[in-house]
Amino acid sequence: MTFRWKDQKKPMLCLAPMEGYTDSAYRQLIKTVAPSTIVYTEFTSSDGLKYGSKNSFKKIEFKEGERPLIAQIFGKYPENFAECAKILEDMGVDAIDINMGCPSGKVVASCHGSALFRKPELAQEIVYQTQKATTLDVSVKMRLGFDCYTEETLLEFAKGLEAAGAKHLAVHGRTTKQQYTGTADFDPIYKVKEALGISVVGNGDIKSVADVERKLGILDGVMIGRATYGNPWFMAQVEAYFNGQEYNPPTTLAEMLPMILKQCDLSCEFKGEKVGMMEMRKHLANYIHGIPNAAKYRFELVRVETKKDAEDALSRIIEETTNGLLTPVLQ
Ligand SMILES: Cc1cc2nc3c(=O)[nH]c(=O)nc-3n(C[C@H](O)[C@H](O)[C@H](O)COP(=O)(O)O)c2cc1C
Repeated sequence: MTFRWKDQKKPMLCLAPMEGYTDSAYRQLIKTVAPSTIVYTEFTSSDGLKYGSKNSFKKIEFKEGERPLIAQIFGKYPENFAECAKILEDMGVDAIDINMGCPSGKVVASCHGSALFRKPELAQEIVYQTQKATTLDVSVKMRLGFDCYTEETLLEFAKGLEAAGAKHLAVHGRTTKQQYTGTADFDPIYKVKEALGISVVGNGDIKSVADVERKLGILDGVMIGRATYGNPWFMAQVEAYFNGQEYNPPTTLAEMLPMILKQCDLSCEFKGEKVGMMEMRKHLANYIHGIPNAAKYRFELVRVETKKDAEDALSRIIEETTNGLLTPVLQ
């Protein structure tokens, strides 16, 4: 069935696109623990896809179990977005998202990502040309503004995207200038929701079910990123909360082990053992957050080369730390 943002069950639970993290293996892991999650690819260059970059195509690869899969692209040439839209539709993705939130200096200097706040007409043209070229829904992930914003500038920008054909917005409650400092402000996101007819989800600093409870308000859902590091079960907790249930996440490293090893398998399957395990290093380090002597163990985990290295290291940590009891980070 064709994916449409307007038909999604509310509240929606979305995994934030995160370059270097949310590859196919990570997305599959999240879908294993929280099947209703809507997942996004890492941001992918529209120019790269247009010119056949292998790396860009790899970022869009996905498995059926990841659906609905939203492909996120960035760039500045509307005609390239339009070509990409066709390429992505042929690749079978469920919807297309346009990155207007990336604050990284390199991206902004090339007039990509959140630099589009400074060129609202170009931002609208990109959305318009993309949605015209595809039958898929087109959405935008954005921030509140570039260096500053007022309610007026924010709403004008968001309304412009809606008028250009965007069917959904994910709004991170910070400006570009803030990068990741300070705290995400959800009040302006509620204003966007009030002013628009399309669905709007809020993003930024959601770290607990209590945060979801406090921040969801009138929004159509939440988007969660960094709180899933070493804690995919957080998505299961939020999913359960949305279904009026409770989910008890694992509290010891021993209980977490099967899922960590599954992630190793997924990563090796997707990128081969050498690259897959290299990429797993940061994830492994994230799983031992809060255990005694974590620094010492992190040193070992960021050096593993094979899945067996990881399995051996984790088993030893479990033995040495009385079953890998974690300080409870999940609520
Ligand atoms: C390592 C990292 C990579 C990111 N990559 C992307 C990206 O590719 N596309 C995007 O729209 N946002 C990206 N973001 C921003 C996140 O999607 C999200 O907006 C931000 O982390 C705030 O949400 P959180 O507090 O739940 O993590 C990235 C963030 C991080 C930390």
